[in-house]
Amino acid sequence: MADTLLFSPMTIRGITLKNRIVVPPMHQYSAVKGFPTDWHLMNAGKFAAGGAGLVIVESTKVERRGCGTVGDLGIWDDKFIAPLNRLVAFIKQQNALAGIQLGHSGRKARATRPWEGDGPLQRSPDIEDWDDWTPVAPSAIAHSARWPVPRALERSEVKDLVLAWGQAARRANEAGFDVLELHGAHGYLVHEFLSERANQRTDEYGGSEENRMRFIIEVTEAVRTYWPDHKPLFVRLSVEDNAGWGPEHSVRLAKILKVKGVDVIDCSSGGITDMAPILGKEIKYNYQVPLSEQIRRHADILTMAVGLIIHGDQAEQILREKQADLIAVGREILNNPNWPMDAALKLGVEGPFRNVPPQFGYWLGTRAKRGFGTNPSTWQSGLQERLP
Ligand SMILES: Cc1cc2nc3c(=O)[nH]c(=O)nc-3n(C[C@H](O)[C@H](O)[C@H](O)COP(=O)(O)O)c2cc1C
Repeated sequence: MADTLLFSPMTIRGITLKNRIVVPPMHQYSAVKGFPTDWHLMNAGKFAAGGAGLVIVESTKVERRGCGTVGDLGIWDDKFIAPLNRLVAFIKQQNALAGIQLGHSGRKARATRPWEGDGPLQRSPDIEDWDDWTPVAPSAIAHSARWPVPRALERSEVKDLVLAWGQAARRANEAGFDVLELHGAHGYLVHEFLSERANQRTDEYGGSEENRMRFIIEVTEAVRTYWPDHKPLFVRLSVEDNAGWGPEHSVRLAKILKVKGVDVIDCSSGGITDMAPILGKEIKYNYQVPLSEQIRRHADILTMAVGLIIHGDQAEQILREKQADLIAVGREILNNPNWPMDAALKLGVEGPFRNVPPQFGYWLGTRAKRGFGTNPSTWQSGLQERLP
């Protein structure tokens, strides 16, 4: 039976993942006034029951203005703690860890759901707080010609926002999450501060690289004040955004974030322009893995690789080649929520059904003992294996 890195546990601070498979944050656009619904319970629940070590709940907004769509999850008030705890409790019952990504959409806020047009939302009487939901950003610069010009944040508002991230971290902890991820990627607020294209402020939050990094650093400090020492903190970065920010900047930032208490850099790309991710480069298997490898090697910090990682042996190879420490499987786990079980079978891991709850694992294990369902390839080859 194969010894794999993918199915080996990993301890970060006081928390142990049972394997290296992570469900990355994936918006469901299905919240109601910021509150999770049964959809979210089903969605997170099926991934947890499918055997992933860590399930990260989608980008959840630290303030109302930061909501990307009417269906974004919120965490800007204590009233969100109990409903989020319902998700946490269910994920943990399946022996998975529960994570949450904190986010703010900045100048890309107030948009349609992707399948309803994927662009700025038109004013509607159904949205009672339309004016309170005005997109804000470091500078009054639109994302692109088809997006509205955001309102530039006052300096005092930037300070308030730092506090809002801290309070959101407190609520995430009170809701019982094990892992927190800060969304610093994809052209949303934190990334906008980092970008010299989006951030043309003249105060201490703009201008030099040091100044543009100030917001994410202060956010990290505020979050670490409320996020307990024994719990891991991840940051997702667009390591390369093809608009002035690249791996060398990300390495410098990751080194600073590590000192501030960040444990893992989740290595993504793009989003600051409409042409994302990785403008000009071919999108192919592992397309962001080299970014993870660079951060891991040069910033000496744990990394998570994400982006078109679809097969178990592909994930295993990334870990063996020391290109990442954790593997995030996004769209493929939408296709197959039992991906971890499937990968374990294909990699020949001992007890492939041990990763899943007994409601599934017991029956699949007893069937396997009779020689059925353990050959992952075809019915024909399975038949040949079974018959004398
Ligand atoms: C439906 C959907 C929603 C997403 N929502 C988020 C999100 O909330 N936060 C985030 O950082 N990335 C989000 N992403 C990006 C994914 O986390 C992941 O980085 C991306 O899908 C690439 O990985 P994949 O090829 O395995 O799907 C989303 C992707 C999808 C498909």
